[in-house]
Amino acid sequence: MNRRSPDFHPALRTLHWLMAAMVLTMLFIGVGMVSTSGPAYVTLLALHRPVGIVILILVLIRLPLRLFTGAPALPDDLPPQQKFVAKASHVLLYASMVAMPLIGWAMLSAGGYPVHVTKAIILPPILPHDLPVYAFLREAHTIIALLFFALIVAHLSAALMHGLIRRDGVLRSMTSGHHADASAERR
Ligand code: HEM
Ligand code: HEM
Repeated sequence: MNRRSPDFHPALRTLHWLMAAMVLTMLFIGVGMVSTSGPAYVTLLALHRPVGIVILILVLIRLPLRLFTGAPALPDDLPPQQKFVAKASHVLLYASMVAMPLIGWAMLSAGGYPVHVTKAIILPPILPHDLPVYAFLREAHTIIALLFFALIVAHLSAALMHGLIRRDGVLRSMTSGHHADASAERR
């Protein structure tokens, strides 16, 4: 995770924003889905499963690309504790993007439900039918979703702190991608 590079690879930046939109959509679809017993439930669940599986595929492409191409260094004047928290939070964000779809897939497998991606495409079960395991994973899916949401709010706040208050080029490294000349505008 710590390899240095002047800029985020353009594909990493595209994946960041695409996946940020998808993950937020998934959190809201998930909460909306469990809040209704009407016909919207079926539609939302039919959307939730494939979008979740696409997130899993994208993060499995993104992680090796990130490890291979590296990331720009954080500003030198950022205290070491803040650098540590930033890096640890990124690891947790990646872990959540892998864990949430896998838990969704595993819990449906343990519950004995077919894991439909589309009407025609059904994924194989990744766990044997086991109701106590289903109940545990169903609970884990909810708790990790809540923690994931809290982490995203903290991440968004940190990004805005960098972009609006410190103006140190960190936010720009994920938007236009120019991080190398950030020291020119650092305060
Ligand atoms: C990034 C990926 C995912 C996110 C952020 C996410 C988020 C959520 C959230 C917030 C809920 C509502 C939890 C609650 O309030 O109890 C939920 C429920 C659920 N999710 Fe996911 N999910 C993801 C991936 C998946 C995948 C890939 C599957 C299946 C293949 C899946 C299947 C389900 C099911 C079956 C429910 C519960 C429906 C019910 O009990 O009525 N999720 N998800
Ligand atoms: C669901 C929402 C989001 C997720 C899952 C997410 C995930 C991530 C991850 C995993 C990284 C680490 C990149 C790496 O080192 O490979 C990252 C970096 C970054 N994100 Fe997000 N992000 C989200 C939303 C946002 C939003 C809304 C903003 C801005 C308003 C933002 C701004 C940034 C910035 C500026 C960085 C670069 C930080 C650095 O240079 O260390 N992210 N994000």
